[in-house]
Amino acid sequence: MREVVKHLSEVNELDELKLAKPFLKWAGGKTQLLTSLQCYIPNSFVKYIEPFIGGGAFFFSLNHPNSIIADLNEELIITYGQVKDNVYSLIDILENYENNEESYYKIRALSTSKLSECERAARIIYLNKTCFNGLFRVNKKGEFNVPYGKRIGTFLNRENLIRASKYMEHTEILNLDYKETLKRFAQKGDFIFLDPPYQPIGGFSDFKRYTIDYFGENEQIELASLFKELVNMGCYVILTNSDVPFIVDLYKDFQIEIVETKRMISSNANTRLGKDIIVLGGL
Ligand SMILES: C[S@@+](CC[C@H](N)C(=O)[O-])C[C@H]1O[C@@H](n2cnc3c(N)ncnc32)[C@H](O)[C@@H]1O
Repeated sequence: MREVVKHLSEVNELDELKLAKPFLKWAGGKTQLLTSLQCYIPNSFVKYIEPFIGGGAFFFSLNHPNSIIADLNEELIITYGQVKDNVYSLIDILENYENNEESYYKIRALSTSKLSECERAARIIYLNKTCFNGLFRVNKKGEFNVPYGKRIGTFLNRENLIRASKYMEHTEILNLDYKETLKRFAQKGDFIFLDPPYQPIGGFSDFKRYTIDYFGENEQIELASLFKELVNMGCYVILTNSDVPFIVDLYKDFQIEIVETKRMISSNANTRLGKDIIVLGGL
C-alpha cells in the first residue's frame, strides 16, 4: 500500500502536465485517428458521451470533466468501474500477478462468476497486457480465448491507472446498449462520439467478435438514423466507420472526411492500409 501512496503523490504533482492514457488495448482503438478527430472538438459543449467506449483513446485525450461512457461488453465496463472506484485494491491484486505462461493460463481459466468485480477487472487488465497481440477476443461462449503473448516487461502501469481513476471521478460508466445510453442521456449541446464496430471491408471482419452481439447492416442503418436524430436535436456528433460504399451512402447528407489508417489483421501482427471515414454532424 505504501507503494501506491507514493505513486498517488507523484500523480498529484504531475496531474496538470500529463493526461491518463487508455489502460487497455482494444480492437479498433482510435489512437491513430486522434489527431484527425481532435480537429473537430467543439469549442464548448455541455457533456461528452461515448456509447461504444472500447479502449477509450479519444475519451482520455479529451480531458473533459463531465462525461458518460458506455459499452455492451460487461467485463470492459466492470474494469472501467473498478479503475474509477477501487483503483488501489485493483493495483494490489495486479501486484500479485506474474507475467509467465503458467500464471497466464491460470488467470485466463478463472471463472468470472466466482470472482469479485475487482478481481475481474484485474484479470482483464492482466490478460490484455500479457496476451498475444494484446487484443480482447472472446469465443462464441463469451470466453477470453487469446493465447499467452510471451511479452517481456511490466503489465502494470500504476501511475496511469491512478491518473485514469482521477480523470474518471465524475464520469458515469454504464453497461448499456448504445441506443439506451443515447435515449437516456443525450441532450442539446452535448458532444457525442460514435465509434461502432466497423462495417467489414471485403466481407471479412474480426469486429463481430468484440461482443457476443453482432453489429450487422441493419444495426448500421439504425445507427445512421439515430445519428440524424441527434444532429436534429442540436448535439455535436462525430462518427467513425470504414470507408465502404454502404456506409458512405448512409451518411451522404453529412460532411465526411476520409483518413488513411493501418489495420491489424486479426490473428497475426501484420498490418495493411485501410481507409476510415469520419462523419461530422452539427459541427
Ligand atoms: C470500435 S470498438 C470501440 C473502439 C474505441 N472507441 C477505442 O478507441 O478503442 C466498438 C465497441 O462497441 C461495443 N459494442 C458493440 N455493440 C454495441 C452496442 N450495441 N451497444 C454498445 N456497445 C456496443 C463493443 O463492445 C466495442 O467495445
